[in-house]
Amino acid sequence: MYKIAVAGTGYVGLVAGVCFAEMGHKVTCVDINEKKVELMKSGVSPIYEADLEGLMQKNYANGRINYTTDYNSAYKDADAIFIGVGTPERSDGSADLSYIATVARQIAESVENDCLVVVKSTVPVGTNDKVEQFIQDFLVNDVKIEVASNPEFLAQGSAVNDTLNAERIIIGTESKWAEELLLNIYEPFNLPIVSVKRRSAEMIKYASNDFLALKISYMNDIANLCELIGADIQDVARGMSFDNRIGSKFLNAGIGFGGSCFPKDTKALDYIAKLNGYELKTVKAAIDVNKEQKTILYKKASKRLITFNGLKVAVLGLTFKPGTDDLRESASLDNIPLLLEQGADIYAYDPAGAENFARVYPEGDTGKGKITYVSNVENALDNANVCFIFTEWGQIKAVIPEMYKKLMRTPLVFDGRNIYNLKEMEEAGVEYHSIGRRPVSKAGIKESKDLEL
Ligand code: UDX
Repeated sequence: MYKIAVAGTGYVGLVAGVCFAEMGHKVTCVDINEKKVELMKSGVSPIYEADLEGLMQKNYANGRINYTTDYNSAYKDADAIFIGVGTPERSDGSADLSYIATVARQIAESVENDCLVVVKSTVPVGTNDKVEQFIQDFLVNDVKIEVASNPEFLAQGSAVNDTLNAERIIIGTESKWAEELLLNIYEPFNLPIVSVKRRSAEMIKYASNDFLALKISYMNDIANLCELIGADIQDVARGMSFDNRIGSKFLNAGIGFGGSCFPKDTKALDYIAKLNGYELKTVKAAIDVNKEQKTILYKKASKRLITFNGLKVAVLGLTFKPGTDDLRESASLDNIPLLLEQGADIYAYDPAGAENFARVYPEGDTGKGKITYVSNVENALDNANVCFIFTEWGQIKAVIPEMYKKLMRTPLVFDGRNIYNLKEMEEAGVEYHSIGRRPVSKAGIKESKDLEL
């Protein structure tokens, strides 16, 4: 059992802290927000994440996890301090490291024992060398401090499971002492551990995330071509997936990747490359394709309709993916302003993200279009002229094709997540436009052989 402190209680910090406690370590999570700390002590998670609250409550009750704003007491005698604070994107694409720097300084002023500082936040390659130097520059007591890199690969919505059952744990260290300490901390997880040098660990995080982003952009690019040449992206993806070298995951074409990681990490690596005089053409392509893909539904619908002015527009799904209330880089944030600009009367449904969306676009008349938040799919679809599907929530996937026909004024659906089978939409009499597949028009599924190649 080790004494662990965790700086920051966002997705990365809180989930790591709770999972370390679950594995038997004694954990103190530090956050600057007093209200948040009180909330967490009462067993309430500040983030929307399956399984998290149960584990928070269990480990708080058995004394293995605590929460505090008093960083000094948490850091002074910790064996290891994990940093999980945010590294937001600056306007030039670089990572803002000011939160890390603040924590590093607090650590330097607090530690009274030898201690390993482990950076979980995604940071540009080489940052941890600087963090180590920074802590040493400000160190008050004569103790040994080393910095290790331990990037995080959890996905929102499955964060606890991704941590407890990770496919691999990456640790980047510069000494045997640091490596052994981290190996021991992770021993109870009983998971594969890849131990490398610090800079390689930092790079593994970017290289992995950007590869996945590239995979999605590649499929979106291919999907757009499929539409032009009359092939079906879902059949193409299925065919590709049998090749183990390609794999079956992350082959879903759609309206681009959103969230807090892929958009930020692609831009950050592009920036790092440029800074080093190198052009990372593949990652740049992933960014460019994604930018175009985000508004693909709006562009398709604009070709089909003369205007959105005065039309009742049903929007199903606002978050960047299901299972989260997070809107960061969500396609809804790119499409909805364009629809409002044109005077659309939007009725939006999302099982978890509506409250956050209403903070950006408050309910009511925006001066051009209107937006209303509804608590179920039926109210969104009722009498609508057109429907956009932005997120594949279970509640949205459960809507049977006949519902669009029955409830909408005109059953016209633009689906950014390829939820439906073309045949079932044709049979239900729904005009249906999706990604990388043939459109289902009023006359039925458009025949590929009619396309002139
Ligand atoms: C991602 C990584 O999966 C995780 O390993 C990393 O640590 C953080 O970034 P997350 O952003 O939570 O996690 O979600 P993820 O499920 O990976 O989806 C990201 C985006 O890609 C979503 O907008 C999703 O809709 C999109 N996506 C994903 C696709 O468009 N197609 C796919 O096949 C998969």
